[in-house]
Amino acid sequence: MPSNHSLTGVSFIGCGAAAPETVVLNDALAQVVDTSDEWIASRTGIRQRHVSNDRESLAGFATEAAQQALAMAGVAAADVDMIILATSSAEDLFGTACQIQAQLGATKAVAFDLTAACSGFVFGVVTAAQFLRSGAYQNILVIGADLLSRWVDWNDRNTCVLFGDGAGAVLMQATEDADRLLGFEIRSDGTQNCCLNLAFKPELRELIPGTILTQGRYQYITMNGKEVYRFAINRVPDAIDKVIHQANLTSNDIDWLILHQANQRIMDAVAERLHIPAEKVVSNVANYGNTSAASIPIALNEAVRSGRIQSGDTIATSGFGAGLSWGAAIFKWG
Ligand code: UT7
Repeated sequence: MPSNHSLTGVSFIGCGAAAPETVVLNDALAQVVDTSDEWIASRTGIRQRHVSNDRESLAGFATEAAQQALAMAGVAAADVDMIILATSSAEDLFGTACQIQAQLGATKAVAFDLTAACSGFVFGVVTAAQFLRSGAYQNILVIGADLLSRWVDWNDRNTCVLFGDGAGAVLMQATEDADRLLGFEIRSDGTQNCCLNLAFKPELRELIPGTILTQGRYQYITMNGKEVYRFAINRVPDAIDKVIHQANLTSNDIDWLILHQANQRIMDAVAERLHIPAEKVVSNVANYGNTSAASIPIALNEAVRSGRIQSGDTIATSGFGAGLSWGAAIFKWG
């Protein structure tokens, strides 16, 4: 049962990340499809991606990231109230979050999956904030984890060069101090749904005469890259701008911009439109490629653990992708 505390603020006090050890360099991909390191690096900024093997699992990487976040926060697994797993590559369509709950030993936590593709982590943070602000819960793990190497067509050079595997997590905690989530905007536009899909393809089966069922399988990722690119560079700056105003800030007040790591050119274009200098843009797309819901917390974790992001720094973040969906948030770390 949720408690009835009247805590109103949200804080971000722990982070963690995990990724497979196996790395595939661009040059290696050129042996698989007609591409080159030069094309991939110049069009996307990606140099390599991590890919999981048959002994590794989504729940395993997500649990490792969550354990690191709990350790940094100094919160015991038994004190976690909720686990939100943002993923589009669940190993079980009924949900993967409960496996993480069990692996962590977070016995009192309610756990569920949230599917919003590359916007999933931001949607998860905003969802968690509602439960914390209401006073219902004290500690919430928000995990972004995806293993899209499983769902990429490795014969399609338009998509296979882009994606990689990984997991990232944050521990959000209710606080009586000032709220550290300064603003958010979350959006969807289903009219552009066909631009990016990992769709179910039904196969017809006549169960008994006259009764046709659809059984089938999920297809590989398909994407209209140009449309998604256009969508991202239009919608993301607008959403961040809106949240900056909501927070009564200007873009000068932003210490760090952590965008979904899809393409370095998108990050550069968004930063330029917001007049945020390149040195404030956190990017690790070169090393991971696009890890979907995991990309923002993996980048956040690296910047926090390397000491670039300090307690009290103001971070603007935005996720965007399939749906189409997008979201932005501004928060203070720590
Ligand atoms: O997390 C989900 C969000 N997804 C995204 O943010 C993706 C957004 N889109 C993009 O990042 C870019 O559109 C891509 C990186 C996917 C593509 O870059 P682009 O500059 O838009 O390239 P393009 O699709 O216009 O393709 C240019 C050329 C084409 O050849 P032709 O038709 O000009 O002869 C492609 O066939 O590049 C070709 N091409 C490639 N060549 C070598 C496409 N993929 C490759 C490849 N290697 N891997």
